[in-house]
Amino acid sequence: MQFPGSHILSVSQFERTDVEKIFDVADGMRPFAHRERMTKVLDGAILGNMFFEPSTRTRVSFGCAFNLLGGEVRETTDIKASSLTKGESLYDTGRVMSGYSDIIVMRHPQAGSVAEFSRASRVPVFNAGDGPNEHPSQALLDLYTIKKELVSRDQGIDGMHIAMVGDLKHGRTVHSLSQLISLYKKIRFTLISPKELRMPEDIVEELRKREHQVVETEDMEHGLEANDIVYLTRIQEERFATKLEADIYRGRFRLNQAIYTRYCRPNTVIMHPLPRDSRDDANELDNDLNQHPSLAIFRQTDNGVLVRMALFALTLDVTDQVEKSARAVNWYTERRF
Ligand code: NCD
Repeated sequence: MQFPGSHILSVSQFERTDVEKIFDVADGMRPFAHRERMTKVLDGAILGNMFFEPSTRTRVSFGCAFNLLGGEVRETTDIKASSLTKGESLYDTGRVMSGYSDIIVMRHPQAGSVAEFSRASRVPVFNAGDGPNEHPSQALLDLYTIKKELVSRDQGIDGMHIAMVGDLKHGRTVHSLSQLISLYKKIRFTLISPKELRMPEDIVEELRKREHQVVETEDMEHGLEANDIVYLTRIQEERFATKLEADIYRGRFRLNQAIYTRYCRPNTVIMHPLPRDSRDDANELDNDLNQHPSLAIFRQTDNGVLVRMALFALTLDVTDQVEKSARAVNWYTERRF
């Protein structure tokens, strides 16, 4: 695809070569994200960071990625504090906000909302989650993490076995991630969920059409066997009609140290887009795995900054100018663990 000036709304926009290009640019962002060097390549540019649904890491990491490239961030964080509650259309909001920004990142509870907004925008728009539909930047950072984790085990993405666990019906991260992975070859997807929360049929069909193996099961113990990656998800309670309905499924599938040791192959990479629901009745990914070397969840969040920097640099067409305005940083940068 042509990156400069493009909206990023869905993973279906990408070919495998595009994904690899994003990953190459993300690799080059590492010294900047690690505060070894700084750049002002986006000096003067403004990001409109518009979040109309709860968010911690997506909102802050997009903002942080823009700042690390030298740009400024303006934020909307609450749908109630915006004119959308006065009946303003997404079209008008898009048209207006694009006059104030060079690029816009948007999250909204309605499927298709970000695409609708982008049609009115005069600047590029990134989809940071449109209801249960898609979350393309999360899929990119997840796949980037998968690639890094597998490389350290002398493996590639082609031919890998991945289990996706939990609310596969409403989880936009797994919708985008499975479709992105399908650009690679001969993947085995094991989709572990209650049958009411299965992966949408059109996505499963697409995976099969691309000659991947798809196993759908409610049997977690069996489903965990012989995978390279286990990707857990939260029950998306905000997508259910009532909290009571979500309660039926909460805590149904859990991974902890004992289950991991018993059913997963040693070294199976453990992933989760976060937030994990750590309340007692949910706890889909237990804290007793926090020190496990294969727990990649915080490497995912760190990689989010690199991948989002790459998306900004490609879309605003500055990838070959990042170095020109780079210099060493002059504050204390050592990280504690
Ligand atoms: C996810 C989301 O918002 O879709 N979080 C994120 O962006 N990392 C997953 C979730 O909320 O469960």
